[in-house]
Amino acid sequence: MNRLETLIWQNHTLKLLDQNRLPTEVVYHEDKTVEGVFNSIRTMIVRGAPAIGVAAGYGMVLAARNQKSTQKENFLKNLRRQGEYLKTARPTAVNLAWAVDRMLEKAETTIMNNKQANIDTILSILEDEAICIHEEDIQINRQIGLNLLSLVSDGDTILTHCNAGSLATAGYGTALSVFYVAQEQGISLKAYADETRPRLQGARLTAFELSESGVDVTLITDNMAALVMAQGKIDAVVVGCDRVAANGDVANKIGTLGVSLLANHFNIPVYIATPTPTIDMNCPTGIDIPIEERSGEEIRKVNDTAVAPPDVKVYNPAFDVTPARYITAIVTEKGIIRPPFSETLKRIMLS
Ligand code: MRU
Repeated sequence: MNRLETLIWQNHTLKLLDQNRLPTEVVYHEDKTVEGVFNSIRTMIVRGAPAIGVAAGYGMVLAARNQKSTQKENFLKNLRRQGEYLKTARPTAVNLAWAVDRMLEKAETTIMNNKQANIDTILSILEDEAICIHEEDIQINRQIGLNLLSLVSDGDTILTHCNAGSLATAGYGTALSVFYVAQEQGISLKAYADETRPRLQGARLTAFELSESGVDVTLITDNMAALVMAQGKIDAVVVGCDRVAANGDVANKIGTLGVSLLANHFNIPVYIATPTPTIDMNCPTGIDIPIEERSGEEIRKVNDTAVAPPDVKVYNPAFDVTPARYITAIVTEKGIIRPPFSETLKRIMLS
């Protein structure tokens, strides 16, 4: 693979490919503090549920390094406080809280099991854990791609929404991994990418990474999805997700619900590509998933140019929830899950 790295950890610095500047500029932003990582997540320099999780892992390493001179007794208390702070950067993708909790658990067990461990030892164990989250994500996504590949045929065209690609993860992507795994195996798949207003992740990121990788991709505006489905151009819908509730309801980028309803109308399968860390068994249904609301400026403007009256009222939820009944299968690294999701999700999370 010769794709741009989304996150690079080097010399205690987190380098993030600035996704707000793609596709016109390829620039890396650097964070050396947990506050910096918080800001990069909040302002979407790094975005996409798995990439947010990986960034949070490194954010916790930076938070821990900041405690270097603290008494060991206070280390854990301070780290927990920083973790709670980091979790508030964005509310919907559960990978953020998942990564923070995994790092905290590592710190707790290290301190509990090795009373002699000094702060430097703990820091090095935490750094290894963050690197492990990073590397695991790449393996997980490749396996999701292989599992997705078993659901499609050579020559198929897949419609996707937002960016659940290499840029949204540590590598391969979740939904887009199927294109990269297909390429590796000499199988030809075509993509239709919704532009994904308001922040245009489909146009700026999905169209960019797929075309850079040599995948046949066609960009459409969001309101064209119904027509391309009606014209028989789409064989499957594959999207990523930010949180799966225990009953199989799925939160993903705003517009996913509409795409799923349309696909159901036209008898097109809807596949949700998700790593298991995005499954939140503590969240009973989609109603319980917190949905981020973002600034109205994202709708009133495109690329800083006003496209609406400056003071018009705006409603800007960043995600929507697709009820489980509109989902054909949830594709994880552990396998393909089909309804009834309340049972099959439980089984896969225990396996
Ligand atoms: O607001 P974003 O760009 O972070 O939203 C991203 C999405 O909704 C993705 O589809 C989702 O995180 C899956 S990423 C593999």
